[in-house]
Amino acid sequence: MSPDDTTHETRKLEHLRINLHENVQARQTTSGLERYRLIHQALPDLNLKDVSLATTIFGKPLRAPLLISSMTGGAHEAERINLTLATAAQATGIAMGLGSQRAGIQDKSLAYTYQVRRVAPDILLLANLGAIQLNYAYSVDQCRRAVEMIRADALILHLNSIQEAVQSGGNTSWKGLLKQIEKVCAALGAPVVVKEVGFGISADVARQLASAGVAAIDVAGAGGTSWAAVEAYRAPSAFLRELAEAFWDWGIPTADSLERVRRAVPSMPLIASGGIKDGVDAAKCIALGASLVGFAAPMLKLADRSVEDTIDGIKLIEEQLRIAMFGIGAENVDALRNTKHLEKL
Ligand SMILES: Cc1cc2nc3c(=O)[nH]c(=O)nc-3n(C[C@H](O)[C@H](O)[C@H](O)COP(=O)(O)O)c2cc1C
Repeated sequence: MSPDDTTHETRKLEHLRINLHENVQARQTTSGLERYRLIHQALPDLNLKDVSLATTIFGKPLRAPLLISSMTGGAHEAERINLTLATAAQATGIAMGLGSQRAGIQDKSLAYTYQVRRVAPDILLLANLGAIQLNYAYSVDQCRRAVEMIRADALILHLNSIQEAVQSGGNTSWKGLLKQIEKVCAALGAPVVVKEVGFGISADVARQLASAGVAAIDVAGAGGTSWAAVEAYRAPSAFLRELAEAFWDWGIPTADSLERVRRAVPSMPLIASGGIKDGVDAAKCIALGASLVGFAAPMLKLADRSVEDTIDGIKLIEEQLRIAMFGIGAENVDALRNTKHLEKL
C-alpha cells in the first residue's frame, strides 16, 4: 500500500484519468518561453532539407533532440499508453522516459506495464524512480532493478517535494537526500539524471546535483502540468484540496530555470521540459542551452488516441523545430545551441 492507502495501481489510474480529463495546467504561471524570441534571419545560407535535427546523448544517437517525458506504468491501462509512446519513439528516433517504477519493484506482477523494449529496441530509454524513496527503503539495489527491468540506458530520479507535501501521507522526510543521490551516482554504473516534475530546478540545487555526480539535469519547470493541481483533484478532503490549490502555480518557470541552471553548471547536459507547446518552444530551449526537450502532457493526450496520432504529433514538433532552425540559419543542433539569434523581450 502506498502512504495514502490507495494501491499503486489505483493511484496510477487516477493520475492518468486526472491528467487526461481535468485541466491541470498551470493557471497564471507560464513556461516563460514567450519572453524569448528567436531573431528571424531573412537570408538563411542553407537549404531547409539539409537542416539536421540529429544529436547524441549518453552515447546514443537520436534523430531529433526530443524526449517523451516520464509518465506512467504500474497499471494495466498504463501498458497500452507506454507501448504506444514507445512505438512512436522508435518510429521517430526520439528518447522516452518511463513513469516511476516503484509499483513494478514493489509488485513484480506489474513489471510488464513498463516493458517497452520489444517495440523500441533502439531508443534512448530512461528508467524512473522518486529520489525520495532513497530516504525511506530504497538504495542503489532498487535503482539497479529499475534499470534492468526495462533495459534502460540511464536512470532518472525525480524530485517532487511539493507534490509529496500536499498529499495525504506523502513522503516528507527529505533531510540528507542529496547524500543518497550521490551514493547512487557513484554505484549505479549507468548515468543518473535528476528531474523535477513541474516546479523547476534552481541554481543552488543544480550546483548541489552537479557536486553529487549527476550526469544530466531536467529542469521540468513550471508553466505546464501542475502536480499540485493533480493532487487538488485527488484530495480526499476540502482541507487537503485547498492546501494543494495554493501551490497550483508554484515553481520556477521552465525558461527561468533553464537560464539559471545553464549559468550555474555550464558544462552539465540539460533537458528542458514543463509546458513546452511545440517545436518553436523546443528551438528556444535548445538556444537557451538544452540538449534535449521533453513533452509529457501533450504526448499523453496523443497516446490516448493512437500510435499514428502520436507519430504525427512528434513529426509536427520535429518539422516546427526544423523550420525554426531554418528561420535563424542554424544548420544543426549544435549551431542552434550556440546561436546568437535569441533575445529576451
Ligand atoms: C500522467 C503523468 C504522469 C507523470 N508521472 C511522472 C513520473 O512517474 N515520474 C516523473 O519523473 N515525472 C512524472 N510526470 C511529470 C512529467 O515527466 C513532466 O515533468 C511534467 O509533466 C511537466 O511536463 P509537461 O508540462 O509537458 O506535462 C508525469 C506527468 C504526467 C502528465
